[in-house]
Formats: sequence, structure tokens, C-alpha cells
Amino acid sequence: MSQTANAAQAVGSPLSAAGSSSTSSVPASDQPKTGSDAAATSNAAPNAAQAAGNGNGNGNGNGNGPRPRAARPTLDPAWTVDDSNVLYNVRGWGKGFFDVNRKGHVVVRPTKEPAREIDLLDVVLGLRERGLRTPVLLHFSDLLQRRLLDIRDAFEGAIKDNGYRGRYLAVFPIKVNQQRRVVEEIRDYGRDHGYGLEVGSKPELLAVMGMTTETPDRLIICNGFKEDRYIEFVTLAAKLGRTIIPVIENLTELRLIVRYAEQYGIRPRIGVRVNLSTPGAGRWRHSSGIKAKFGLSLSEVLEVLDFLKSRGMQDCLQLLHCHMGSQIHDIRQVNSGVNELARIYVELAKAGAGMRYLDVGGGMGIDYDGSQTNFEFSTNYTLQEYASNIVYKIMSVCDEEGVDHPTIVTESGRAMVAQQSVLVFDVLGANRLDRFQVPTTLEAEFGADAEIPRPVIDLWEAYSMVSERRLLECYHDALQARDEALSLFSVGYMSLKERALVERLFWATCAKIRDKCREMPSIPEELQDLESAVSDTYFCNLSIFQSLPDIWAISQLFPIVPIHRLDEKPTRKATLADLTCDSDGKIDRFVDDHDIKKTLELHELREGEEYFIGAFLVGAYQETLGDLHNLFGDTHVAHVRLDENNQWWIDEIVEGDSVREVLHYVQYDATRLAMDVRKEVERAVRSKAMTAAESHQLVKAYEAGLAGYTYLECESHLD
Ligand SMILES: Cc1ncc(COP(=O)(O)O)c(C=O)c1O
Repeated sequence: MSQTANAAQAVGSPLSAAGSSSTSSVPASDQPKTGSDAAATSNAAPNAAQAAGNGNGNGNGNGNGPRPRAARPTLDPAWTVDDSNVLYNVRGWGKGFFDVNRKGHVVVRPTKEPAREIDLLDVVLGLRERGLRTPVLLHFSDLLQRRLLDIRDAFEGAIKDNGYRGRYLAVFPIKVNQQRRVVEEIRDYGRDHGYGLEVGSKPELLAVMGMTTETPDRLIICNGFKEDRYIEFVTLAAKLGRTIIPVIENLTELRLIVRYAEQYGIRPRIGVRVNLSTPGAGRWRHSSGIKAKFGLSLSEVLEVLDFLKSRGMQDCLQLLHCHMGSQIHDIRQVNSGVNELARIYVELAKAGAGMRYLDVGGGMGIDYDGSQTNFEFSTNYTLQEYASNIVYKIMSVCDEEGVDHPTIVTESGRAMVAQQSVLVFDVLGANRLDRFQVPTTLEAEFGADAEIPRPVIDLWEAYSMVSERRLLECYHDALQARDEALSLFSVGYMSLKERALVERLFWATCAKIRDKCREMPSIPEELQDLESAVSDTYFCNLSIFQSLPDIWAISQLFPIVPIHRLDEKPTRKATLADLTCDSDGKIDRFVDDHDIKKTLELHELREGEEYFIGAFLVGAYQETLGDLHNLFGDTHVAHVRLDENNQWWIDEIVEGDSVREVLHYVQYDATRLAMDVRKEVERAVRSKAMTAAESHQLVKAYEAGLAGYTYLECESHLD
């Protein structure tokens, strides 16, 4: 893969190469919004502690970590934290869980109560005192608990309001976040409400079996491909007394289930996954439909029932399942999918199957941009609306056909766990393309008698003549002169000094045109990419491939916001680049209200002071998808709780990978490597290339490196 683009490369690249095009969102549906979600986005008043600038938590103290300066003057006195809140739409995507306090720091409100909050900067600095540096993934366990309750309340509320006569059961698909701690929390927080777990593979099943031994009645749903041994194990688990339902994805599985049921003398609970004809929507639309990877056609579902009938086992077919895709952004898709599913359910029940469970799968979306619209990174519905529509649709279809109301099962993954995780990383430095200074005259640069190449003169003129009336003309002239200069340089007719001036003049001209564009009500189409082309690059201490792989792999959007200094106006616009030597290791698409923006507003970096950025809503799918590109390993993970006195505390720390560990993953023996380095060093001492003391220093540094974090660990990188 190619190397990270730097300023010099950028000079040679046309502006058209910068960023992807914007995507407009479709206006919100006219479905009514519910009270509970509206309340979640309301503006909560800061509490007294905030107003007094009084941080809580046990993270502060006499640590050595850099601190934000007290009472820092704002560059624009008119700018307030409310302006930052609007700019980054924190309350929109935060849904009551995230906000900005009076100090200009992002806070987490794990229970949505305005008086109970955790200051993210406080946590990051507190971790620093405990020897844990950024990048760090923060898990907010109380937030997860609250989210599980919200989902349960929404369904139970809908059941009560509609007079539905069945139950609701949530099962968590562990592939969405397999981290032991997260699954345990869901198991424990869901204890009183019977939360179950969904597995999609044999390893996942074995993990879940081992961690639910104390709660054998918990529903375990087995999706995905199942071979002989897997099905034998599921059969024995059922015999053990577990409430376990294998969901048939193909007819071979059915035969195996029946064979083992007969062999072990049990009557299994069996599920069947059907492919709906309702078209999917959004990025994962191919999860449903006749060509979907999983699930049976209607004819095959009937074959399943006939086969079971032929064995006198039709009462064992108890669950009907479908999965309409993830991040469903339009409620109409949920409505029509559930309607079709319910129709199939009642027909199976009437045909003699022992139907009891209707599993609508996952798919409930997250409003990543906070716009609450029918946009692929948003949702045009609330949690309450989602639950009400599902309950109501199933009930009306069953009532029409005189079929008992089933237990409704959902497999929401993203909607359960996305919000509980925040990735915080520090900025190492910035590259500014508009920093280039140009001389007052060309003579001042080259001397009065110098023979200046024509393209340099043309560029100089383009730069000098920039005005609102001639923006496009100057831009075209600058592009042409720049290209001619590059050609001259490549055939040896231009000096390095002249070439360097071309670079400065070109970017200074672009910056001047960009500044003019900022003052204009509408920008000519050709210049619309200029803002992102001239934007800064902020280099960040993280690996996109390890910590935010969905950004790279599927162009996922997450809200990304500085976690402090939000009482100051951000004066820079930037894209983010990670530590990897890969040009894909960048973030150049950011959530915007109803749109995608190519740059993020950030603050000017200050010498000797760290700058922290948070990526929010990252708890779904990301955590086990990351890879070891450039051997950057897992980041530290801290599980943060809030006690009754509103003090945050660290419940558990999972240290990130050391260099030694990542080397081991790719089959290096770090001890062996260290021994070989030691031998080479000894040879250097013998040949007097280095002193014994220097050799000791080198070996010490090598061993410390092996034991250390894979990310940059220095105190402050900004200068
Ligand atoms: C069968 C099944 N159930 C549930 C889910 C979870 O979906 P989501 O995270 O969108 O709720 C998935 C995800 O792809 C899935 O394949």
C-alpha cells in the first residue's frame, strides 16, 4: 500500500483528488416522535459543580500529566460552549448520554441524569496518573446498563399500551462486541429481564455456554452455519436443560438436528430463518431477500415443516427468525419486514407448527450524525417508535388470524452497545498547507538580476491578483503555472529553490482563494473542494485499522469531537491521519447535520500542551475487527463507573498489547530477537564501534521497547 501523503506529495496532486463527495440526507419522516426520546436530546442545565469548574472523580490529584491551562482566554470572546455543542451536534447524537460542560469538556451522563456526569478529560488525565496513556478505549458500564433498560422499557411499554398478550425477550448477538466484560455485563444487567445471547459460530457458542452456567434458562439462539459436532453439542445442551434454539439455515442442518434429537431422546426447540421478499435497505440490505447468504426460501420453510411432520416433530418448530440488515435507517422497512414475517408466522402456526417465538433479528440503527433522518448514518425513528411498531404489527396480524401472540425476540446488537464506548486519542502534531509564507517581491527572493522562470512569475501574478471577481481565473492560472513548473523541474530546467517557491506560492494562492470563498454566500463548483484540499492534517496517536476499522473498511461515520477546549472557537479545519504508513489510515469524512463534511473544525495546537480527540459511539462491531497493520496492537481499555456520590472510578483496566505480544501474534520470539540484538551489540563493543556503557543503553532501550505500548508514549509531542 502507498505511504502516507505528505505536504510535498500533496503539491503534486490535483485538488480533485481530495476527499469524497458529500451525500445529502433525505428529510425526516413524518412519523410522530415519542416523548422519551425527545427528552433525551433536551438541553440539560449545568449543575453547580460544573458551574464552579469543580471536577469530580478520583482521577485528579498531583499527577505529572499535562493539564489544560486554567481560565484560558478564548480567542473569540463571543464563542461559548453552546456554540461548540451546536457545531459538533453533541446533543443530537449524544441522545442525553453526552454533553459539553461549562469548562468546555465533553461529559458522559451514563444514566442520562443531568446531575450525574463524568468529565472525559478528567478520566483521561486520571488514567495518565495510573500509568495508562492514550489511545485508550473507555467503556461506560452504567451507560450500557441504562441502554439495556431503555430497550426493555420501550418494548414492555409498547406491550402494555397495546394490550399485547405475549412477552418480550432481547438477545444480544455477541459478535457485535465479544469482549468478555461487555458480554458479562449484558448477562448480569439483563438477569431480571431474561436477556439472552445469540451466537453465530461454534467458538461463540462455547463461550456463551461457559458463561451462563448459573442461568440455564437464558435463551441462547444459534445462528450461522452449523456442522455435525456443533449440532450434537446443541442437542446435548438442550438435554442438559438449556433453553437453546438452533436456527436452521439450510436443510442439511435440519436432518442433523432430527438425527441427534432421536439419538439422545429429546424434543428440541427448533428455529427457522426465512428470507423475506421485503427488500432490504441501507448498507446491509443484502442480509435479506431471496439471494441472501443465510436463510431459507418460503418453499424450503414448508419443506422443513413437512419433514418435521413426517417425524411427528412439528411441535418442535417454535421460532421464526429473519434479519433484515443492520443500521436500518427507515422505519418503513421495519414495518413492512415485520408485517411479512408475522404473516409467515401465523401461516406456520395454522399449519400445525408449535410456534412460540417471533425473532425479528437485529437492525435497530444508531443516529450517528444526530439528524434523526432517513440517512444511512442516522435513523428516522426513535427507540420507542421502533418497539411500538413491531409490537403493534405482530399483534394485528395474529389477531386477524386468531393466532396466539408470540414471545417477541429482538437481536439488536448495535443499538445495545454502540454508545457505551469512546475512543480517546492524542494529537501528535499538524501539517498546515496554508502556513507557507511568500516573499514580498520576487526580486527579494532571487535578487534583481536573476532570470526567473516564467511559471514562477505566472504563479506570483496569480497569487497577487486574487480577488473575489477573479477567483476562478487566478485558480486556473495557478494550476497551470504549477503544472508547467513541475515539468520544467523534471527535465532539469528549474532549481530546487525555484521549485520550493512554486510550492509555497501555489498553496498560498489556494489559501487566499479559500479565504475569499469563506466570505461568499455561494462558492463556484470548481472551488468547492478547496477548503478540504487546503485543510490541515492532524497526526493522531492511533491506528485506524486497529481501533476504527469500520471507517476504513466500510466508510462508517462516527461523531469525532475534541474532548476539551470547547469553550474556545476552533479555528482550524483538518483531516486526521493515523500512525500507520498507509495513506488509507486517515479520516476525511465527518458527521455534519444532514450531510457529510470533509474536514473537522479543530483548535490550534499549543506548544507543550496535549490535545485530545474522542471518537464516539464506537462500541459496536469495531472492537474485535481491528487488525495489526504496522503492528499497532489493541489499545488499553478502561471500564469506568460512576458511584452514588457522582465520583467516577475505574472498575477494570485491560492493558493494551505490548510490542512483545504483537510480535508473538505474528510468530516472532521476542526473547530470541533480544538475544540476537545483544550478540550484535557485543560484537560492536569488541570492534570498539561502541562502548560497553552504550551497548547497555541500547539493550535496555530494546528491552523496554519490547515491554512497552505499541503506540507513541512520549510526554508531549507538540512543538
Ligand atoms: C443474525 C443477526 N442477528 C443480529 C445481528 C445484529 O444486528 P444489529 O447490530 O444491526 O442489531 C446481526 C448482524 O449482522 C445478524 O447477522
